[in-house]
Amino acid sequence: MAHQSDLIGSDIEAYLKVHQHKSLLRFITCGSVDDGKSTLIGRLLYESKMIFEDQMIALEADSKKDGTRGAEIDFALLVDGLAAEREQGITIDVAYRFFSTERRKFIVADTPGHEQYTRNMVTGASTADLAVVLIDARKGLLTQTRRHSYLVSLLGIRRVVLAINKIDLVGYSQEVFNTILADYKAFAAQIGFDEITAIPMSAAYGDNIIEHGPNMPWYKGPVLMEHLESVDVTDLGANSPFRYVVQWVNRPNLDFRGFAGQIVSGTVRPGDKIRVLPSGRTSQVARIVTADGDLPVAVAGQSVTLTLTDEVDVSRGDVIAAVDDPPVVADQFQATIVWMHDDALLQGRSYLMKIGARTVTATVMPIKHKVNVNTLEQLAAERLELNDIGVCELALDQPITFEPYAKNRDLGGFILIDRLTNNTVGAGLLEFELRRSQNIHWQALDINKTARGILKGQKPVILWLTGLSGAGKSTIANVVERKLAALGRHTYLLDGDNVRHGLNKDLGFTEQDRVENIRRVAEVSKLMIDAGMIVLVSFISPFRAERRAARALVEEGEFIEVFIDTTLAEAEKRDVKGLYKKARSGELKNFTGIDSAYEAPESAEIRIDTALTAPDAAADRIISYLRDGGYLGRL
Ligand code: ADX
Repeated sequence: MAHQSDLIGSDIEAYLKVHQHKSLLRFITCGSVDDGKSTLIGRLLYESKMIFEDQMIALEADSKKDGTRGAEIDFALLVDGLAAEREQGITIDVAYRFFSTERRKFIVADTPGHEQYTRNMVTGASTADLAVVLIDARKGLLTQTRRHSYLVSLLGIRRVVLAINKIDLVGYSQEVFNTILADYKAFAAQIGFDEITAIPMSAAYGDNIIEHGPNMPWYKGPVLMEHLESVDVTDLGANSPFRYVVQWVNRPNLDFRGFAGQIVSGTVRPGDKIRVLPSGRTSQVARIVTADGDLPVAVAGQSVTLTLTDEVDVSRGDVIAAVDDPPVVADQFQATIVWMHDDALLQGRSYLMKIGARTVTATVMPIKHKVNVNTLEQLAAERLELNDIGVCELALDQPITFEPYAKNRDLGGFILIDRLTNNTVGAGLLEFELRRSQNIHWQALDINKTARGILKGQKPVILWLTGLSGAGKSTIANVVERKLAALGRHTYLLDGDNVRHGLNKDLGFTEQDRVENIRRVAEVSKLMIDAGMIVLVSFISPFRAERRAARALVEEGEFIEVFIDTTLAEAEKRDVKGLYKKARSGELKNFTGIDSAYEAPESAEIRIDTALTAPDAAADRIISYLRDGGYLGRL
């Protein structure tokens, strides 16, 4: 069983050859803090002789010093390598460990049990074939067990080992085992696993890990190692239609143009007819090039360079697919999202979405529901908090080639990145494209933005005024508009108070309502740009993310951010509408600057300090900016 082949000593080449052709099982272990995961993995490594002698000596010494098992070896110490973990007694990152036996090679992702580390769990599970879900026999099913099982199922793992551990602490009781298994099956029936193998075990003493041992004669099933060695992991990827993600275009000289990337499903041969997506162009595979020469055939999982028989346009992030069975191209989806950040996901907010080799912008449209992981109930939600799992609609700024995650992890799995901090804030799975986007096309119009602008003698632009309530945005915007009208320019002023009486009268002042408020106003401004107007926007617009998203909606040079900078003390002193007084007395909640944040611009094109500049002078500065930038045409 354990892996110390005689071949290593006698014929290393032969050994390596055998080793190379063993199948590989990738699995993930998940459980709550203290379920004994580290001990279990430590024992698997130990039994497969993957622990080196020097580590063994250190382990024995550490076990005596820090261990929880008296004079015996504490296997958890081997795996809980990080000092911080030892101090806290918990595991805090994904650790990949490799071991092998005579029959198979294994990569195990050890993921933490703490609730806030969902991110690591998702990372570990996204490449695994099987999950070992650990349960402490004394505690039975916990919220963590359900959360992890739900995530494992979402991420496409269909085989589960239910490791009912610490069975020694409940007297090796068959009854406890049966009860836990029945509970788990009742829960799992709702999330759909193909196979659940329950094994009672004691990772600490070794029962049912490698051998049955004498303590549980009632258990007739496989022991853990035997199961891991024999479970079927045939990858069906090679039988699926051909899909290839282009990572980069390789053009070392004029005579060679190849596309380097990875086959994410299917098989390819020279001569195969292909289609490039999203463009839809067709061609034929000429060669499959690798460092070791050309290949007659390549399959899912291989990274190769393809050359085509025609000069078709292919760029990074494109997908090359079987000509008669291509994946779908779309820009609106339903997706399941696992949220991993302290700042909630908000409806209306946009994030960077990384999928395959592409990065696009995704805006969260309605959140349909979030899932209570204990009951799998669907709950109404307008935001997803840390660790929430929810189903949302997403609208992208450009179409992508995709397949549902359930069919293809590479073309259906994505991460969301905060555009300001660049942090990974969520992970998700695309479920299906929204048909409505397929049936709505762009209508080609003969008169465009430029033509409309020329007719009005101007270059369309958005002047986006941001600042606290009472800073003077509307006053200044009003003067600017008057002056522009006097110059014969065509303008429109969108003002927060006014728009909230009509288009946005359904919105209040919570974080998510403000996000949606600004999203809509940004879209309206974009339409007005298209109409050839000079648009003045006067909204508090307190969040950087939404101002950034508004800027991204239009072209370079069409968005001018104007920061109307007034101190809170000054705005409060003016208190024209009496709202600060109400906010201070607690009568008005979520008031900007008092109990709701204002994120000042970091690099506005124009900053007006209202303590130094009167409205008329402020307006003149804005007008000269427009004139100098060529927005006002010939005056
Ligand atoms: S934003 O934050 O969503 O951009 P918007 O500019 O539309 O706000 O509306 C701000 C105006 O609404 C303020 O000028 C003020 O008159 C009024 N208002 C009412 N309640 C609040 C509040 N809680 N916070 C800020 N402004 C409020």
